[in-house]
Amino acid sequence: MTTPTLGVCYYPEHWPVERWDDDARRMAEVGISFVRIGEFAWSKLEPEPGKLDFGWLIQAMDTLGKHGLKVIVGTPTATPPRWLVKKTPDMLPVDVEGRPRGFGSRRHYDFSHLGYREECARITKLLVEHVGQHPALAGWQTDNEYGCHGTVLSYSEAARQGYRRWLEARYGTIAKLNDAWGNVFWSMDYADFDEIDLPNLMVTEPNPIAALDFRRYSSDQVSAFNKVQFDILKAARPDLPVIHNSMCRFTDYDHWDLAETLDVMAWDSYPLGHLDGAPEPQEVKTPYFRQGDPDSSGMHHDLYRAVGHGRWWIMEMQPGPVNWADYNPDPLPGMARLWAWEAFAHGAEVVSYFRWRQAPFAQEQMHAGLLRPDSEPAPAHAEAIQVAEELKAINFGGAPGKARVGIVFDYQSEWAWKIEAQAAGFSHIQHVRNCYIPLRKRGIDVDILSPKTRDFSGYDLVIIPALFAWNDELREAIANFDGHLLIGPRSGAKTQDFRIPDGLAPNLPSNLLDLKVTRIDSTNPVHRVSVKGGGNVAHWRERIETRAEVIIEDEENFPVLVAQGRLHYLAASGDRALMQRIIDHLIDEADITTLELPAGVRCRVRGQFRVYFNYNNQGATLVPAADEAGYVLGSASMPACGVTVARLAKAG
Ligand code: GAL
Repeated sequence: MTTPTLGVCYYPEHWPVERWDDDARRMAEVGISFVRIGEFAWSKLEPEPGKLDFGWLIQAMDTLGKHGLKVIVGTPTATPPRWLVKKTPDMLPVDVEGRPRGFGSRRHYDFSHLGYREECARITKLLVEHVGQHPALAGWQTDNEYGCHGTVLSYSEAARQGYRRWLEARYGTIAKLNDAWGNVFWSMDYADFDEIDLPNLMVTEPNPIAALDFRRYSSDQVSAFNKVQFDILKAARPDLPVIHNSMCRFTDYDHWDLAETLDVMAWDSYPLGHLDGAPEPQEVKTPYFRQGDPDSSGMHHDLYRAVGHGRWWIMEMQPGPVNWADYNPDPLPGMARLWAWEAFAHGAEVVSYFRWRQAPFAQEQMHAGLLRPDSEPAPAHAEAIQVAEELKAINFGGAPGKARVGIVFDYQSEWAWKIEAQAAGFSHIQHVRNCYIPLRKRGIDVDILSPKTRDFSGYDLVIIPALFAWNDELREAIANFDGHLLIGPRSGAKTQDFRIPDGLAPNLPSNLLDLKVTRIDSTNPVHRVSVKGGGNVAHWRERIETRAEVIIEDEENFPVLVAQGRLHYLAASGDRALMQRIIDHLIDEADITTLELPAGVRCRVRGQFRVYFNYNNQGATLVPAADEAGYVLGSASMPACGVTVARLAKAG
């Protein structure tokens, strides 16, 4: 049984050497097992070209190891030193306006720059040479948050050349590209791949397929960049996990592809910072501004568990106010504990707080840590101790059981709808959320599924929201599935070449779904149309021709939900009330057990435990579920921000 544990992010290079031993001792006292270090330390490791100083890193690892702490070493490639940029100025990323993005913060590199990739291989090999056999070493992190600060897409010369070669490999001949892209439209034909420019600085919008191919190309560069480091690290230490940390609501590269060269997927969870900038209405943001959205972290935990093939960590967890949102509220007491418990319940192996001590200098001096800048404990310090003790006391762990409901999550769909929104803000991830939230309110666990899933067996209900284009795997999975399916809106609206399919959307065989989308009605979300029986549609409505049975329609007689056997099609974007109705209908049809949860409370099963989290700023009372054999932590009466753990009569 996997025993989950705590970690912390630490920057020994920020503090006098004399403090390291005491820091390590105090980390061990908190109950921390893993310490991530080094991911921004290139200029300390190699202050001048070829002049190396790994002594301090080894000493820091010795000190941490002495206190029984295990170390994750980050490759420092998110922060190339000044001398390297001076030597290779064309490694800088270029923004959409064609301006280089300069040195002085971080992530100042271009994924397409092959020379920089070689430099990254060199520093990674040096790391392996100097600390690869260190007894405290327990794993590696590649780089840091690929794509943060908008760095996946770069409009550099390196990207232009790379994109041309990528297109050549994809299409073979320029005639095929012209044909696939429909370049006859607006006389956009090319005579040669070398005539193709990047899709920026044009008079008006680029051809959507050109923009999508550029995103596909750019995403491939992130995977290729990671693979260089992964191969070096795995060759040296096949026994140690290679991890990368991603972010919240971050879709600029295809994480399913990236994870092919990772052992563990991690993500960095800052629930309050994320909620502040989230595209949610104020009536959702206001009640939770000190707790975070009750369904945002959970959805990302489920996503990254799937991306990591079951192995995932929180590499950075919010410990208090952050510095980077418009407003940075203090979390309610108990939330640093609740967020950790929630991650463990969704299957995290490690929850690592960012950071050990708040820095009194540079960009993040307003960002809390477990310690204040004066080394006194900050509020999350005690909460971390509590989590470590509780995990041990109840011997928490086990595998997150397979859920009965799966939702397909597809990065390309998010790109496609950014390129051709048709209704401002139309988004795949938002439609995934619209389906996820009503399930979670009913206490139902959810698995996120890759768009390359060939087989849906084992699920009672699978949902495919707002999918850009079918692929062979999904077509096969749908054709062979005997559970319930909910598809749409907009699913199958395009081919992989970004065209309207010959048979129109949703482009499925008529024996499965006899339905054609004939027209789109996209409106500002303020224009709502009420739906017979409750709820509203807004933003997106499809006119359809169908022989399927109409289950729900709006007041203007547009079908909203139709069904042909077990396949349901949703032809509109619904508000929360309508989505709850629709999901409740599907849950009922598929005969999935629900729980009676108080508003603002969510739960998740792991092993033989069900963990409840109360996101409310007031108490809530649980109704014990039929499959539970009592509580092992907390009780049915949950305080504000409380956590209760039930033991199941049999493992989930
Ligand atoms: C993350 C990043 C960390 C730190 C943190 C602050 O995005 O990986 O290095 O900047 O945010 O919240």
